Amino acid sequence: MNVSELRQDFPLFQAQNGKKQVIYLDNACMSLRPRPVIEAVTRYYTDYSACSGRSMHKLAAAVTAEVDEVRTLTAKFIGAAHKEEIIFTRNTTEAINLVAHSLDLKAGDAVLVTGKEHNSNLIPWQMLVKQKGIQLLVLPEGSDGQFDQAIFEQSLTPQVRLVSFGYSSNLDGVTLPAESIIKAAHKKGAWVLLDAAQAAPHRKINVRALDVDFLAFSGHKMLGPSGTGVLYGKAKLLDQLAPFLVGGDTVASSTYDSCEFLPVPERFEAGLQDYAGLFGLGAALQYLSAIGFDAIQKHETLLNQQISEGARDVEGLHLFGPADPARRGGIFTFFIDGIDSHRIALMLDQMANVCVRSGQHCVHSWFNAHHIQGSVRASTYFYNTPEEIDLFLQNLKKIRKVL
Ligand code: ALA
Repeated sequence: MNVSELRQDFPLFQAQNGKKQVIYLDNACMSLRPRPVIEAVTRYYTDYSACSGRSMHKLAAAVTAEVDEVRTLTAKFIGAAHKEEIIFTRNTTEAINLVAHSLDLKAGDAVLVTGKEHNSNLIPWQMLVKQKGIQLLVLPEGSDGQFDQAIFEQSLTPQVRLVSFGYSSNLDGVTLPAESIIKAAHKKGAWVLLDAAQAAPHRKINVRALDVDFLAFSGHKMLGPSGTGVLYGKAKLLDQLAPFLVGGDTVASSTYDSCEFLPVPERFEAGLQDYAGLFGLGAALQYLSAIGFDAIQKHETLLNQQISEGARDVEGLHLFGPADPARRGGIFTFFIDGIDSHRIALMLDQMANVCVRSGQHCVHSWFNAHHIQGSVRASTYFYNTPEEIDLFLQNLKKIRKVL
């Protein structure tokens, strides 16, 4: 992987009108987009600008064919057996809401989550507690604050019908042992949903090898356009899901008082879709596949080692997650005693154009349970460089000195 060559593809790295170059370390929130993705979005609007799956004219037929190709590409990207197992959504949040709304869960059934879930994988289940009387169980953490397989297996009571875990944490970057989780859950008759929003941009996923039942991820964290997301589900499970958003292009026919739903995935893609976004998503998946995840992971680990070592002598700095950077992917989250995390983020931005995220990262529940106010998160991607990490560390140290 040639990082400086790849950086040429990202307009945001090209110095514009003498503006200071941005040091973008907020990739866990949203990634930057390379030219092929931007061009694919533009190509939709300039060459087609038409709908898919409805009209008979040539423009519509071309969009239908291309969206179908992106579906095939997405299925291949995650090792799904059939393109019909790919449902396009607006993001991970919508994908999880789809499952929460449509899975046949009844009063007394339990959904098991970890204590570190993003709100996207917590609030939809909280709603079902109110609406259907399901139980929401939160897995206790192990002695090191991380996932513990033995505790997990003890928590798989007969009531647990769904295990819904974040595959890689947006808080500390730790990736769960999905294979053993899925095996244990299946042994007890529970389905598994993986929120792969933070995993899919950084690691090779094979849904068939994992034998996972549902998997959700977003395009915007992996070079794709905002407003693109994916729900994968095993065909036999998707077939059993109740309709979610309904209306245009979800039915084959309707009368004034009934309708006949189309098969999956059309049944779940109501209304005109973000075709430009899907063109861009296809380009993003091709771009990532060409680089390869081995190279991406290796690079991110090196950068995280550099941050972790460089930040060791910052007085009062508390790191989230394990000390070993190889276990934290591209994420380095911390707080510094006595300094407000938003203040650190604002100063990094103002002093050196360093973009990080501060606060509770949509994992308020974990912060509230641990009585921690906030944190700063630096998150890398394959296009970040050791020089950028140096600048981040230098400026962090300056801030520590003056505050
Ligand atoms: N889930 C995104 C983040 O953690 C928004 O920043």
